[in-house]
Amino acid sequence: MKKQSPWIEIPQVESFEHLRSAVNGYTYSRVILTALDLDIFTVIGIKSWTVRTLARALDASQRGTDILCRNLASLGLLLLEDGRYSNSPLSAAELNKKSPDYRGAYLALLQRHWDEWSQLTHIVKSGKPIEDDKLVTEDEDRRAFTWAMHHRSRDKAPQIAKSIDLRNATTLLDVGGGPGTYTLEILAKWPKLHATLGDRPAALQVARAVARKHPAGDRLTYLPLDFMYEDIPDTYDAIFLSNVIHIYGPDENIKLLKKIKAALNPGGKIIIQDFFLWDKKGLSPIETNLFAITMLLYTEAGNTYSAEEVKTWMTKAGFRKVTSVPTAEEPLLEATLPAKKP
Ligand SMILES: C[S@@+](CC[C@H](N)C(=O)[O-])C[C@H]1O[C@@H](n2cnc3c(N)ncnc32)[C@H](O)[C@@H]1O
Repeated sequence: MKKQSPWIEIPQVESFEHLRSAVNGYTYSRVILTALDLDIFTVIGIKSWTVRTLARALDASQRGTDILCRNLASLGLLLLEDGRYSNSPLSAAELNKKSPDYRGAYLALLQRHWDEWSQLTHIVKSGKPIEDDKLVTEDEDRRAFTWAMHHRSRDKAPQIAKSIDLRNATTLLDVGGGPGTYTLEILAKWPKLHATLGDRPAALQVARAVARKHPAGDRLTYLPLDFMYEDIPDTYDAIFLSNVIHIYGPDENIKLLKKIKAALNPGGKIIIQDFFLWDKKGLSPIETNLFAITMLLYTEAGNTYSAEEVKTWMTKAGFRKVTSVPTAEEPLLEATLPAKKP
């Protein structure tokens, strides 16, 4: 069975109606973002509400609350029964601050994107990232971003970990591992493995907090480093590079891949996860191209790349026989170095 895309289907724009539909994509975003701004899902909590009482609790107009709630119910984020609104299972669990499964840090990142994406025309002209005091520069912003990554990936990580074969490895380095969400799930799958998380100190603070609550957390150690300026100080049986190459340009990535090759033991494996383009022209999937816009807004040289281009860089860095490994989501790229001759 074909996997259903989690994205709202936007058709190829071949008619004015398609164009209208594509341009109006922002209307869905705005309705949901306004609901988040008003914290409506937390206010609703486990109760059901009439529009009148909900408007009062939100300190919002009755007319505005009525129209907003109707839209949220049309989208499936609220349920409407006998004139009363309540949370859907998703809203109750993941959009409600009082729920243990709340994805607040990631939602905050999405809320911030609204203003920043509005600067796209200017950014396309300048080719330079947003100069914004809200960008991830200070430690606090970096910690918030790292929590956002954890809230983004925590249910995807076990799925990806299932597809990573580390039966021959006892040591793993996660380069730019952020909150460690993926590595902790990889550790859970391979009980003899020990992992090291290499990232900036502020990201590692978040990783420590995440690991403290994870059963495999005691097999994780932390390596504060800037991998673009520093060498990797040790060698490992496997290195994981997840969602890092899109932050950088081709030359920086080739340099990083060379460092990674130098830090692998004989027989060692590199595993790369990212948003790849899979067709020859680099037009598909559209979500990967949209993600390149995010990189245009936030980074000096980041982009999204075709799997073919990344394979070429890996070959330049000295890896042979790069393969694509299927996962429940997008395939990973992998290569294994030759084992030491006996
Ligand atoms: C998009 S996040 C990905 C986090 C994690 N690997 C994942 O897939 O969820 C990129 C991570 O790379 C780290 N990073 C980027 N450039 C870095 C550098 N030059 N040195 C150390 N860490 C870096 C960031 O701090 C961030 O944690």
